Amino acid sequence: MPLVSMRQLLDEAAKGGYGVGAFNVNDMEQIQAIMMAAKETKSPVIVQASRGARQFAEDLYLFKLIQAAAELNPEIPIAMHQDHGNSFETCKSAILLGYTSVMMDGSLKEDGKTPSTFDENVEVTKKVVDYAHERGVTVEGEIGVLGGVEDGHGAGGSGLDHITDPDQAVEFAERTGVDALAIAIGTSHGAYKFTKKPDGSVLKMDVLMAIHKRLPNTHLVMHGSSSVPKDLQDVINQYGGKLKETWGVPVEEIQLGIRNGVRKINVDTDNRLAITGAIRKVLWETPEKFDPRDYMKPAREAMKKVVALRMTQFGQAGHAGDYSPIAITEIAKGYKDGSLTTRPLVAAK
Ligand code: 13P
Repeated sequence: MPLVSMRQLLDEAAKGGYGVGAFNVNDMEQIQAIMMAAKETKSPVIVQASRGARQFAEDLYLFKLIQAAAELNPEIPIAMHQDHGNSFETCKSAILLGYTSVMMDGSLKEDGKTPSTFDENVEVTKKVVDYAHERGVTVEGEIGVLGGVEDGHGAGGSGLDHITDPDQAVEFAERTGVDALAIAIGTSHGAYKFTKKPDGSVLKMDVLMAIHKRLPNTHLVMHGSSSVPKDLQDVINQYGGKLKETWGVPVEEIQLGIRNGVRKINVDTDNRLAITGAIRKVLWETPEKFDPRDYMKPAREAMKKVVALRMTQFGQAGHAGDYSPIAITEIAKGYKDGSLTTRPLVAAK
């Protein structure tokens, strides 16, 4: 199956009332782990690469690996997404490579660190939407600013520093026409999100619900959505690691989000934890080993287990065969004739 438009994948998820995990990748083993999980659970899936990942793996290696994944798994709809694009040029380069979706994170300036103004965000995001939609490529925007830093991208600080204002979310969706919208509701990238199990004072599910009510046609995206399970932390610490006690986003909160318009759920940290724990265990228990396959194989298996579990919990499991891919050129026509518009005012007419 060719790579699928993320818009199609998310529209299908909305119809089916489920969410789709978007898993970050840097290398072959992570891509294989995701595909093993997708095959086992029969799940459509979003694979995403940050700027850091594209640099680490080199664009062509990474993209050819994704193409191999699509070729080897023709029954699985796969969307390839640029995570946290920092500029028009970053998004354009992903589109020219063949990514079927890009995130223009205009909530930060091009340095990927400094919060931008609302108008700056609208301007750069709209420019990406115009370019991408003409080519049938999906666009995710961000309004509000997430906490923490991932792969060098992020404003740092707490997830509560720049919570999304629902009025601004509506205006942003109207002015940009994004397909999907990342919102800040208290989550942050990385392992250290919350100092105890989060409640409504730090994880603003009420804000998410308010936005969904006003933007029913825009797919909502939860970033920083690793659950940071204690068992994965424990494995790392049992074998010489030094993670401090921490809490992630409970799966039941994500499921509440999915019932309220969340269609894309970004997960990276949980997979990093699973991989690191598995590698540590092998090296700790059998220090005489030096063949990378001795630890990469269990690492890949550990990530596959986490991804398969999330696919089941998010509800995407079992939906791989629900639809056939619409050609990207057809999707481009839908943007042009207005049938795919998500703009709240236009769509309401
Ligand atoms: P986590 O660090 O919670 O896995 O979030 C990943 C993410 O949001 C990627 O954009």
